[in-house]
Amino acid sequence: MDFMKKLCDKYNIPTAKYQTFTDAAEAKKYVKHEGAPIVVKADGLAAGKGVVVAMTLDEAFEAIDSMLVEGSFGSAGSRVIIEEFLEGEEASFFALVDGENALPLESAQDHKRVGDGDVGPNTGGMSAYSPAPIVTDELKRMVMENLIIPTVKGMAAEGCKFVGVLYAGLMIEKKSGLPKLIEYNVRFGDPECQVLMMRLESDLAQVLLSACQGELRNVSLSWSSKMAMVVVMASQGYPESYMKGTVIKNLDKAEQVSPAVKIFHAGTALDGDGNLVAVGGRVLGVTAKGKDIEEARERAYDAVDAVDWPEGFFRRDIGWRALRHS
Ligand code: GLY
Repeated sequence: MDFMKKLCDKYNIPTAKYQTFTDAAEAKKYVKHEGAPIVVKADGLAAGKGVVVAMTLDEAFEAIDSMLVEGSFGSAGSRVIIEEFLEGEEASFFALVDGENALPLESAQDHKRVGDGDVGPNTGGMSAYSPAPIVTDELKRMVMENLIIPTVKGMAAEGCKFVGVLYAGLMIEKKSGLPKLIEYNVRFGDPECQVLMMRLESDLAQVLLSACQGELRNVSLSWSSKMAMVVVMASQGYPESYMKGTVIKNLDKAEQVSPAVKIFHAGTALDGDGNLVAVGGRVLGVTAKGKDIEEARERAYDAVDAVDWPEGFFRRDIGWRALRHS
């Protein structure tokens, strides 16, 4: 995180104002000066739990103590980033990079909280849909010009050319409508990948090869103009402890709901009797395409409803942000 923020500073990439601390007293002094709401982030990877959006000073102090004093995230939390709270709508944007050139992929939006109405603990993602209606063509252009290209050039200038998928977590600020970078991941994202792959019409293997060979400059991609949505079915209890080995039935029926439905397996296995069983927290990505968000959503939920898995659960309200836009 600290590396990314320094890169943003050096190459003028818009991101939230921040400071980095290893000392709890210093961090608290800064928080007092800045006021709440404010964001406290562990510098390293903390299984999706290393970001605290503190609405009060006390919540921020508690997060600082937990990371820097109690060491709850081990070395990942031995440095914290205190960041300005940005108000707006989040979206994700993806680009493929070959070290010098960046090829825009598409946008997506997800639902990170476990429960309907965006309540409960954060998860790896309970759903996603693509495109994100808030990411207009004009916004895409701004993201490429102001965030992605300076990042790719900056990494090359630093002597560490990046080759791979750049997954930008964006905040589209309410006041200005402009995109700011919240974070970078370097992967397709799960379950964002599922909806991107449903919409990609080009040969992915060819495109990835061109990225590896530094030849993205002449590549263009073809995308379905349809909307894709994935509803994640998870084991009851997730993201805390959950049961393993529960039997899932009727996936064939679920896929027959429509040719536009596809079910991706994330945490399944076959048991000794040949039953399909759940072995993970997030287990199935039930995905559908449709001409708009309403149609994709209806197909995805029809398929989810056809799955017979009493020990599983899913969110019923996926897509509310996109529906609001439509
Ligand atoms: N769904 C978030 C990620 O894969 O990073």
